[in-house]
Amino acid sequence: MRVWGISALSHDAALAAVDGDRVVFAAQAERYSRRKNDPGLNQALIDDAAQFGEPDVLVWYERPLLKKLRQLRSGQYLTACDPGDLPRRHLRRFAIPGSPRFEVVRHHRSHAAAGFYTSGLADACVVTVDGIGEWECMTVGTYDRDGYRATRSTRYPHSLGLLYSAFTRRCGYKPNEDEYIVMGLAGFGEPRHVDAIYDEFVLRRDGDFRLKHNVHRGIGDWLPDARPEDLAASIQQVTEQVVLDITRWAHTASGRANLVLMGGVALNCVANSVVARCSGFDYVSIFPHPGDAGSSLGAAAAYLGRQLLWNGPYLGTAINRPFRHRELLDALVNGQVTGLANGRAEFGPRALGNRSLLSDPRGPDVQDRVNKVKGREPFRPFAPVVLAERAHEYFDLPVRRSPYMQFVAPCRRPDLFPAIVHVDGTSRVQTLARSENPNLYDLIAAFSERTGCPLVLNTSLNRKGEPLVNTWEDAVAFSNTTGSSVY
Ligand SMILES: [Fe+2]
Repeated sequence: MRVWGISALSHDAALAAVDGDRVVFAAQAERYSRRKNDPGLNQALIDDAAQFGEPDVLVWYERPLLKKLRQLRSGQYLTACDPGDLPRRHLRRFAIPGSPRFEVVRHHRSHAAAGFYTSGLADACVVTVDGIGEWECMTVGTYDRDGYRATRSTRYPHSLGLLYSAFTRRCGYKPNEDEYIVMGLAGFGEPRHVDAIYDEFVLRRDGDFRLKHNVHRGIGDWLPDARPEDLAASIQQVTEQVVLDITRWAHTASGRANLVLMGGVALNCVANSVVARCSGFDYVSIFPHPGDAGSSLGAAAAYLGRQLLWNGPYLGTAINRPFRHRELLDALVNGQVTGLANGRAEFGPRALGNRSLLSDPRGPDVQDRVNKVKGREPFRPFAPVVLAERAHEYFDLPVRRSPYMQFVAPCRRPDLFPAIVHVDGTSRVQTLARSENPNLYDLIAAFSERTGCPLVLNTSLNRKGEPLVNTWEDAVAFSNTTGSSVY
């Protein structure tokens, strides 16, 4: 049986295809439409998925009528009454092959299933923290061979994700998109408003929390004289504390050794690292796309209700060209900033070596040179990809492996690699085993042999505000605009 999971009409539309037990395709709509965070599907995405066969079932990632009910209750009358964002009506706009059945699963179940059914674990506690789905904004449950059992949930408007988004807007950035920028900005500020945030907005209690007001429409000009970096540091610290409260409680209540962490808040790699170090769980697993776009695969997984064959996140559009090992190695050794667009695109927000911009991470001017190519905020550091067996020499990782750049780790030699170390002394590390991406592994191993450095700077192959490069034509356009070579 072929199952397509779909998430769309909120932000970051995506489609995933499962054939039997095997995940054969997963990609986000923005890569095809070239509109960042595109909420709608498009025919090019559907056609790409259809190469893997026509679907028998389409599974939508949340219950649309339940969501409309919540929108009505929360005063979003126009959205609630708009039939244009009902899933079947949206799907009718596209040529979907075959005549598949239509099913729906709950929003938080899609999140949980994406994480657990790709983890390879026999049992786990699953914690999902996000902005909002239908009603639930935080859930704790367990998965084992008997399926899912819910333990605790927190409902709208008590949402940590919405609070972080409200602060994202307050800091001058776009909510639902720029939360990662606020996380980076936090390193430059002092958490001097933490007590004020608790006084005004958040009540912590017994591994749970409540918001004192609904912050869905933002927090206006709260503390108008506060510096954005101090607000960012403060909401970041509150987020880390509340997520730690939840996961510590979940560890005690579930008695499980494994945690699967999901939801948009699990994109916060600083908070993830606090959870990995301090929650009490032995192992923390996070799907490479823990937010709503990843729930496209989660919807299919929840419908199937079994572990899937997951071979990593390289599941999108294919660029079938020879891997130009020698040219890439020469470029890196000669200190050039060079693009790598080869194989299938990564599913998730991070470039993990198939749509990446790479550079030697050493030297004081690297960050400026890469920022110039990308045209982005100068305060944001870049990430390293390091040979897995050498990772612990350079980074004090909170986990054994971090293949999807979801954890930060203090860098043991920040003097050597200023471009990949944030102002707080940490790096967002991708550890790389050869089985995960042999071409990239061999390239970095050869770079290490030539230079003695077993890591390279790895950032996404895009200009600021654009989606990642998807096709070879996109890669050529990137090269023409920036003057950087792409192989
Ligand atoms: Fe969500």
